[in-house]
Amino acid sequence: MSGGSRIPGFYRLSLSERRELIAGRTGVDIDALTRALAGGGLHVSVAEKVVENVLGTYGLPFGIALNVRINGRDRLVPMVVEEPSVVAAASNAARMVRASGGFFAETTESLMIGQVQLTGIARPAFALRALEAGSAELLELAARSVPGLLARGGGPRKIEIRDLGQGMVVLHVLVDCQDAMGANLVNTIAEAVGPRAAELAGAELGLRILSNLCDRRRVKVSCRVHATELGLRRTGDGASESPPGSSSVPASTQGGPSIVDAIVAASRFAEADPYRAATHNKGIMNGVDAVVIATGNDFRAVEAGAHAYAAHSGVYRPLAVWRRDGQDLVGELEMPLALGIVGGTLRIHPTAQLALAILGVETASELSLVAASVGLASNLAALRALATEGIQRGHMSLHARSVAVAVGALGEEVERVAENLSREGGVTREAAERILATLRTED
Ligand code: MEV
Repeated sequence: MSGGSRIPGFYRLSLSERRELIAGRTGVDIDALTRALAGGGLHVSVAEKVVENVLGTYGLPFGIALNVRINGRDRLVPMVVEEPSVVAAASNAARMVRASGGFFAETTESLMIGQVQLTGIARPAFALRALEAGSAELLELAARSVPGLLARGGGPRKIEIRDLGQGMVVLHVLVDCQDAMGANLVNTIAEAVGPRAAELAGAELGLRILSNLCDRRRVKVSCRVHATELGLRRTGDGASESPPGSSSVPASTQGGPSIVDAIVAASRFAEADPYRAATHNKGIMNGVDAVVIATGNDFRAVEAGAHAYAAHSGVYRPLAVWRRDGQDLVGELEMPLALGIVGGTLRIHPTAQLALAILGVETASELSLVAASVGLASNLAALRALATEGIQRGHMSLHARSVAVAVGALGEEVERVAENLSREGGVTREAAERILATLRTED
């Protein structure tokens, strides 16, 4: 990418200027970009082949998170999300983090889990020994079922077996899926080894399916934010690059250690209370899912894995925590993330292909680092707003814009109606209609 991910005033550009600029920076052909975004990208004739009983397609906004830097590399990050503020907030938080070097992210080992359920086992200890002894044969069977994956350097790596009690044993096949999310590959493997595993264990064969708790394919992200970055809008570029919905902070809480402590207290709240942890994690998933959806990945699988992992200690916990380090705030996020850059929806969805081209990721692991970093950025933005002015102010200004559009405001009228609505305090359709009518008479 040329020119980096920092683009002050981006939101002020027209739609076509924004497209030109992103195409220019990422080297994506402008016509290809325009085509991939037309009408939501997916043609109904293709959609018809993807799911059943199709009537049409369903569009969502496709935005770009700015300022993101991960492991020293800038990324312009496509986000598909319907919730106002999410893209602006992630960009704003990424700018604060960028001042301290950006996000640092890594993946752990990258293995998916295929499960084979074995039931009706009279002597579990014997079954465990037999399966252990047969592991090499089972791995061989597994490998033979996915020759394409083997050719790409992936494949089954390990067998693990657990006694679940009540005559039930589960066999896990750990699979390196390379750049695929891996659901089909892992299911193929589980089905290939199932019958022989049942034979070895003297068991009845049960389910053969991947686990979405992919805790052997995790991402860790950390970041640091100077206290001064948290409270201040920098004059000159800060205000001009902050779109509506990215919050400013009132003078009483600006800068300094108090915001750091307030965010740490918000983190501790989530660490102590599953009711809060669920909402804290929802804020993380605002960022993660938006990248997952933009890139054509399975967000239900990601959600299932994230929340199962959040509860893996037996208590539902936040996926990211925040602490003070001197005058800085430091955040850490760890979560399972099984994403692909080949196969699945990517084969057929032009907008998902465009998202990957804009991102410039070359491996599925790289994509996971991006999604998790944007998740941490979203969490930071939410906690900062909640710990200071609350989130409603930012949300209301965006809500005001959509109400302005809904009553027919056009071009510059949208901002003017929204500003007036926000100033008045009551964001209603009636008020928007009245303000728009007045503006038009005055002009
Ligand atoms: C709203 O989409 C997300 C938040 O509720 C997250 C949070 O409370 O941390 C603002």
